[in-house]
Formats: sequence, C-alpha cells, structure tokens
Amino acid sequence: MRIRLRRRRPAQPVASDRSGLAIDYWETHGEELLTAGLGAIARRLPALVAAALRLAWQANRRDTAVAVGGNLAAGVFTAFGLVATSSVLTSLFAMGPTPDRVRAALPSLLLVAVATGLRGALLTASGWAQARLKPQVERLVETRLLELTTRVELTAFDDPEFHNAVRRARDTGVPDTATVVETTVTVITGMVGVLAPAAALALMHPVLMPLLLVTAVPAGWAAMRSARLRYQAFYRLSAARRRKYMLSDMMAERQPAAEVRAFTLRDFLLGQYGKVADLEQSVQLEVARDQAAAKASGDLLTGAATVAVYAALAVLLSTGVIPLAVAGAAVLAVRTGQASLTGLVQAMNRLYESGLYFGDYLDFCRMAEARVQPPGLAAPPASFRTLTAEKVTFTYPGADGPALSQVSVTVKRGEVVALVGENGSGKTTLAKLLAGLYLPDSGAIRWDDTDIADMDGDALRRLISVIAQDHTRWPLTVRENIVMGSEPDDELMMEAAAAAGADKVVADLSQGYDSLLDRRFRGGHDLSGGQWQRVAVARGFYRDAALVIFDEPTSALDARAEHALFERIRRHADGRTIILISHRLASVRYADRIYVLERGKVVEQGPHAELMRRGGLYADLYALQASAYKGEAS
Ligand SMILES: Nc1ncnc2c1ncn2[C@@H]1O[C@H](COP(=O)(O)OP(=O)(O)OP(=O)(O)O)[C@@H](O)[C@H]1O
Ligand SMILES: [Mg+2]
Repeated sequence: MRIRLRRRRPAQPVASDRSGLAIDYWETHGEELLTAGLGAIARRLPALVAAALRLAWQANRRDTAVAVGGNLAAGVFTAFGLVATSSVLTSLFAMGPTPDRVRAALPSLLLVAVATGLRGALLTASGWAQARLKPQVERLVETRLLELTTRVELTAFDDPEFHNAVRRARDTGVPDTATVVETTVTVITGMVGVLAPAAALALMHPVLMPLLLVTAVPAGWAAMRSARLRYQAFYRLSAARRRKYMLSDMMAERQPAAEVRAFTLRDFLLGQYGKVADLEQSVQLEVARDQAAAKASGDLLTGAATVAVYAALAVLLSTGVIPLAVAGAAVLAVRTGQASLTGLVQAMNRLYESGLYFGDYLDFCRMAEARVQPPGLAAPPASFRTLTAEKVTFTYPGADGPALSQVSVTVKRGEVVALVGENGSGKTTLAKLLAGLYLPDSGAIRWDDTDIADMDGDALRRLISVIAQDHTRWPLTVRENIVMGSEPDDELMMEAAAAAGADKVVADLSQGYDSLLDRRFRGGHDLSGGQWQRVAVARGFYRDAALVIFDEPTSALDARAEHALFERIRRHADGRTIILISHRLASVRYADRIYVLERGKVVEQGPHAELMRRGGLYADLYALQASAYKGEAS
C-alpha cells in the first residue's frame, strides 16, 4: 500500500520557529538591553567594574595592577603632554626673533617628547597586561564552572532550569566574563583618556572644559546607537544562529554522517540551513544600513558641534580671554578628548552588555553551590556488613509520580543480589540510589547503621563501582577507559580486561591499551557495541570497590562473552558484593536473592526456587523466556 504524504505548508521564518529551540532565555536580556537608558547603564557599571576587577585580581594580580595602573599613569602623562604643548605654543607665539622663540620652546618641547614616549610605553605595557588577563580570567571562570557542574547533585541534571542556567553560563557567561574584565580596563582607559584632556583644558582656562563635552555628545550618541543596533541584531539572531550551528553540525559531524546518507537528508538539511542563513543575512544588511545612517547623523552633528566650539574659541580669542597659543593647544586637547570619549561610550555599552551575561554566570554559580553537598561530612567505612534500603521512595524532579515507592532491600557483604522487572519498573533508579547517586525523598539507605546521606558523597562513591546501563563511550585510550578515576596499575588493569573479555578486543588494536577510541582523531579506533560494553565492564571490575553494581552488563555481549561474565559473577567475583540487573533470567537464577520490581515497588523477593514455587510475576517471566528457548530448540 502506498502511504500518502500530507502536503505541508512551507515552514515559518526561523526566528519565530520555536520547535525544539529553547530561546526564551535569550529574549529576557534582549528586553532589558533594548529598554535600558543611559542612566540604567551608568547605575549598573560600578558594581560590574568591582566584580570584574575582583575576578581579574584572582586570576593574576600583577597583570591586573599593570593593566589598571599603567592606564592611570598614562593618563597623567597625556594631561602633562597637553599642558606642555600649550607652553610650547606659547613660546612659539611670543614676541621676538624666531630662533630665540624656538630656543625658548625647546625645554617644553623636550617635555612633550618625554611625556609622549612614556605614555606610549605605559600604554603598551598595560595593553599587554590586558591581553594576558583575558585568557587567564577565561580559564579561571571556566574551571570554576566545570568544578561546579561535576560536583552538583545528580538530580540537578533532571531539572530544566539547571540546564538553562548551565547553557547560559557556558555559552555566553564564560566568554563574556573575560570580556567584562577586558572592557573594564578599556573603560578605565577611556575615562582617563577623557579626564586627562579635560584636566589639561581646565588648567588652560576653566571655560574650555565644557566645550569638550559639547563636541563629544553627538559622537557618543552615534557610537551608542550603532552598538545598540549591533546587539539588537545579535539578540534577534541568537536562536537562528544556534539553529545554524546545529544544522552545520548535523552535516559536518561524524555521528549523524551515516544517517544523513542513509535517509538522503542532504537537500533537506541544506534547505533548512539556507533559510536560517537568509534570515541572518537580511538582518545583518539591515543593521549595516541603520548603522551607516546613525554614523552619518552623528558625524553631521559632531561637525556642527565642532563648528560651535571653534566659534566659541574665536570669541574667547577675540575678546582676549585666552591667548592664541592656548587656543591652539585647546583644539588639540578637544580632538584628543573627543576620540577618547567615543571609545569610552562604546566601551561602556559593551561593558553593560557583557555584564548581563556575567550576571548569568554569577547566578549559575549561586544556583549550583546551593546544590552541592556541604563539606565536612564523615568518611564512610571501608565496607559494610549489611547494606539496606529502608522504605525508600524517590520521585524524579518534575515527574508525575514516584519512580520508587516504599522499596526495601537487604544486601549482605559478599552476596549476589539480583533486581529484575519489566522496562521502567525502577531497577536502574534503585541501583542509582544504592550507589549514592540520588538521595531518597523518604526512607534511608544504610551501610550497617549509618545513613549514606550523612557520608561524604565522593568518598562513598569511590567504594562503589557502577557499570551503567547507558555507559559512556569515553573518547580516550583503552587504558584510560578502564583505569579512569582510579590509581593506575597495569597488572590489575589487564586482569580486569581479561575478566570482562576486553583483552580480546585490545589484541586486535594496533596500539594495544594505548589505542585511542575516537575516530575523529588521527589513529583513532572505534569499537562495536559489544566491544564497548566489554571495556565498560572492565572499568567496573578494575575499581577496588566494596560494592559492584552491574546494570544490564551483557545486553550487547555475544553468547560466549555473556556466559563467561555471568559465570564470574556467579562465583561472586572475588568475594565482592554484587547487585546485578538483568533481563536474562537464566543468568540471575543463581543469585542469593532476587527482588522483582513492578511499577516502582518490590512485588516479590527470595531465591530463584522460592520465586518459582510462588508462581508470581517472576515465574511467569521465567517461563516465557524458557519457552522461547525451547521453541527455538524444537
Ligand atoms: N531521569 C529521569 N527523570 C524522570 N523520570 C525518569 C528518569 N529516569 C527514569 N525515569 C522514569 O522512572 C521509571 C523507572 O525507570 P528506570 O530507568 O529505573 O527503569 P528500569 O527498570 O531500569 O527499566 P529498563 O529495564 O528499561 O532499564 C520509568 O517510568 C522512567 O520513565
Ligand atoms: Mg534500567
């Protein structure tokens, strides 16, 4: 039968296409930025500058001191140079023969040269320090972020709010924090650059200083408007850009490459990409046009203001308020000040903008710190005699109902205990609670008499080995994949590899245990699903753990490897305590005790024979599997 495809309407423009794109958080700041006036910007600046300088200080004290101090000192020399210039001009414009006038101007000229030279040297030094600060701050901020993302309780990753906060902090918080620091120094430079000629003008004549501000206002306005336009476009495009990156990854990355071909997705993906690129281009062209208009009006107004200033100077000159030489120096000072002021306004705008994202980063840090286990908890004992889960109830954040309710389990040291049940019955959840990865909402998990909630989480998890159902394929070498997070010991590693059958995988790799398991890098290898699982099981065996949790360790293994692994587990894997989750009931029948879960509750428990006698869910499932095998055999 032919399947009729419904004709779809053409897709909406991407900016309003919200399918799967969480763009809301981008928009909140857009609003604030668009409506913020100069006053709001100015009020926010001091706090931002202080926070940024604190961070820079933490990253590198010397570079911070040089970047800030150098700028301030350079400003002093700017003012000094301008005043000396005024004195040079005064000597040159004095009465008398020219050689005498030049001679008289020489000392001041020398001062101008020295001031200019020193200013240049100071600016170079502080520019260098500023450039050095950026990567250092970036590293500090990113390290702090990753320390937090790896320390927060696991449930944080089930919370969409947390994900949003992480995304914001990672995408823009980290790079923009470094920008805040950099721009702070630029703002200081700009302020000094404006204050220095202003001070010089004030020294020449008090009336001159306000003139500088008159010429600077239109230029500042134009710069501000231009910057604003750029950021507005940035916000309008942020969701579209993210989509573009996503699409370009789909077309250029390794993982989807096979499916792109298998489903002939090329034209579809390129079409989607084209739509986003069209939107981006049209917005950018619009911005370029508006920026040109803003600049033109700014230039026009600046021209008019400059004419006004020169007219004012002419009035001052003709009325004898200031001499010609001072007027000449004043023109120089006004021009210097103008340039600095334009830069200052731009930098302030940028500081404000990056400050919003810096705020995101700080918010994330606060949010994450509230989700970190408090320090100073007791270290766990090396092992336990009995591990118990006592009426444990657990609901995933945001879930409709509990994944586990009133579950009680007992595991004695050296036992093999199996958890069985249908998909979604709560086995993995229970395993994660027993591993201390989640804490129960009510009830307790105890090592003998101590609740594991009162133990230091990291220390506890060092004593537990978990081979997760959805184990990670770490893009590292085989050795690192097995040893990860434990002390390296080659002999133990090979034993663990042999126990999991990973040694046979390694035998086929040219670099042995040092083979890189990532095809995206030169000399990298990839493994089959079952081979990866053997490596994951080896990682579980390698860890010197009191408790080993196997969550479906054989789902991808071939029959021989599966048999070998279960045989090893059956022989109690060197006396360790084992919790085994498996759908292969023939393999769990040897467990000391079997817990059968159904919809988050323990419905049956006991050894295999007892459960079979009982004729409940376990017996049903077992009989079903057994009959399938018998059916095949007959
Ligand atoms: N991170 C999560 N957030 C919300 N609900 C979850 C999460 N993980 C699992 N669940 C839900 O909790 C219940 C128990 O899931 P769990 O993974 O423990 O089942 P399982 O017994 O291991 O199933 P399977 O045999 O498929 O591995 C399921 O209803 C599942 O949808
Ligand atoms: Mg599971």
